[in-house]
Amino acid sequence: MDRDPNPNGAETFSLINPWIRYFLFLFSFLFWMFSLCIVAIGVYARVQKATDPVRDTFLIDPAIILIVVGVVMFFITYCGCIGALRENIPLLKAFSFSLTLLFLIQLIIAIMGFFYSDQTRDALGRFVKKAIVHYRDDLDIQNLMDYIQQEFRCCGWNNYTDWSWNIYFNCSQGNPSTERCAVPFSCCTPVPIETVINTMCGFGVQTQKYLEAAVSIFTEGCADRAVTWIESHLLFVGTMALGLALPQQIGGIVLSQMLVSQIQNEISSLL
Ligand SMILES: *[C@@H]1O[C@H](CO)[C@@H](O)[C@H](O)[C@H]1NC(C)=O
Ligand SMILES: *[C@@H]1O[C@H](CO)[C@@H](O)[C@H](O)[C@H]1NC(C)=O
Repeated sequence: MDRDPNPNGAETFSLINPWIRYFLFLFSFLFWMFSLCIVAIGVYARVQKATDPVRDTFLIDPAIILIVVGVVMFFITYCGCIGALRENIPLLKAFSFSLTLLFLIQLIIAIMGFFYSDQTRDALGRFVKKAIVHYRDDLDIQNLMDYIQQEFRCCGWNNYTDWSWNIYFNCSQGNPSTERCAVPFSCCTPVPIETVINTMCGFGVQTQKYLEAAVSIFTEGCADRAVTWIESHLLFVGTMALGLALPQQIGGIVLSQMLVSQIQNEISSLL
């Protein structure tokens, strides 16, 4: 668009394919706007939780992850978008380089996730232990744990006695809590014919033997339940995610490289 008119006055013949250029522009533009949405959601989630007393429960706040991913995506798609629009070689090269880097990082993460599933299980265990300890401190954590236990029909990480990690449910003698030796209601097995829901069904179960407790609660720990589920689904989800993201990245790399070489040809033909 900023090129000099042909000095011979003849019809300008461009070596740049407008379809490639506009497709790359549109494609980057959509993801550029999308990255702004991700940053906005991350900032909103961060501000919402700013008054929360338990902010450092987990290693990284998910809102921070959203903001970082959004900002990185913003700069990458900016390069693709403005690079295609202005036919700017450095921006297009930066776009292609960042996509290649991202592609390699994803591939490494996928391969590591596959080979380090034991470490993944341990990390998940530490996460659930923290969630059990802070169960009463944060409503989000409480909802998450309740959801996990109901969904996977499990209780605690190894088994139901893990609820002693939480000071309210801790089963040691001196504990003054009314919930001593109890487990949360989300551990209770559903009783369909019961007319009045017994919210106290988890009380005192930590003192009971496995078979006795199994009458009222899920006795199996979430480790085995959830990990079995994740292992059977992660392969599918991971394959799907990579299957969708990788072609887009490869498409971006190929198109930007084509555009760069077309612009270079155009420049050398004008010299
Ligand atoms: C629960 O798990 C802990 C740790 O793995 C184990 O020591 C304990 O015996 C288990 N209790 C029951 C009732 O299965
Ligand atoms: C329960 O509380 C006691 C006393 O505070 C503590 O020594 C014990 O380690 C706690 N139990 C668990 C499983 O954390």
